Amino acid sequence: MKPLDQQAIRNRLANTHGFHFSNIEVVAEIDSTNEALKRSSVSGVEIDGHAIVAELQTAGRGRGGKPWFSPPVGNIYLSIGVNMSITDSLSGFSLAIGVAVAEALQDERVRLKWPNDINFEQRKVGGILIESTANSECIVGIGLNVAMRPLDVTKNAIDQPWTSLEAEAGDKEIDRTSLLIRILEQTSMAIVRFRANRLKSFMKDWERLDAVYGKRVRLSLGSGCKIEGQALGIDAYGAIKIDVGNGPESFVSGELRLI
Ligand code: BTN
Repeated sequence: MKPLDQQAIRNRLANTHGFHFSNIEVVAEIDSTNEALKRSSVSGVEIDGHAIVAELQTAGRGRGGKPWFSPPVGNIYLSIGVNMSITDSLSGFSLAIGVAVAEALQDERVRLKWPNDINFEQRKVGGILIESTANSECIVGIGLNVAMRPLDVTKNAIDQPWTSLEAEAGDKEIDRTSLLIRILEQTSMAIVRFRANRLKSFMKDWERLDAVYGKRVRLSLGSGCKIEGQALGIDAYGAIKIDVGNGPESFVSGELRLI
């Protein structure tokens, strides 16, 4: 496994238009790249444009308070600080970032499972966790299984079907530095597009990438209640539309499964 080349990444991202990366750091080990940016923000440091990538996380966080398994096996654990003044549209923002990551992967089999899973044929290859801070900034966290093999995974560490980019590429080694550059370029463009037009300009992309459109799904809501119906895409705010029998209804959060 080749280490990530911080200098090559900085050089390529130095002249991006629109969203400017003020600092790109590659670190060997960290508790959580999201937490590190949160600490900076809490201590009053501006995090807009600050990206941190780690080879290993000791306390990686996933959605819904779950841990994100983050061993040092050649995966990608990335966080980017973004100034986003309208905090109420953050749900739509995470979908826009999903589209950016899917584009960066350059593989037509990649799909997005609402709200934040990056999948190959219903197996998860990555996820996105966006957290807001008190200073109208947010932290975009992206985790991708690049080189992880089944033997690298501690028993019960991952509770759903998963895969890795290398496995999907027929065990061909993936150049993580180039991949990371593409992810940063695509997210940079997505941030500019989202700031200008919110989710509107991503609707067509989502439709093309939607892993569950037209399929029967079960949504487990935070209340413990579960609903079942046919998935019908997303609305303008990034909520999922499900027809439970009386036409589409929008749901803003929950854990989605195919049935
Ligand atoms: C999910 O549950 O699908 C979201 C996973 C997000 C994981 C990434 S890895 C980089 C960043 N730092 C974290 O602690 N979490 C996110």
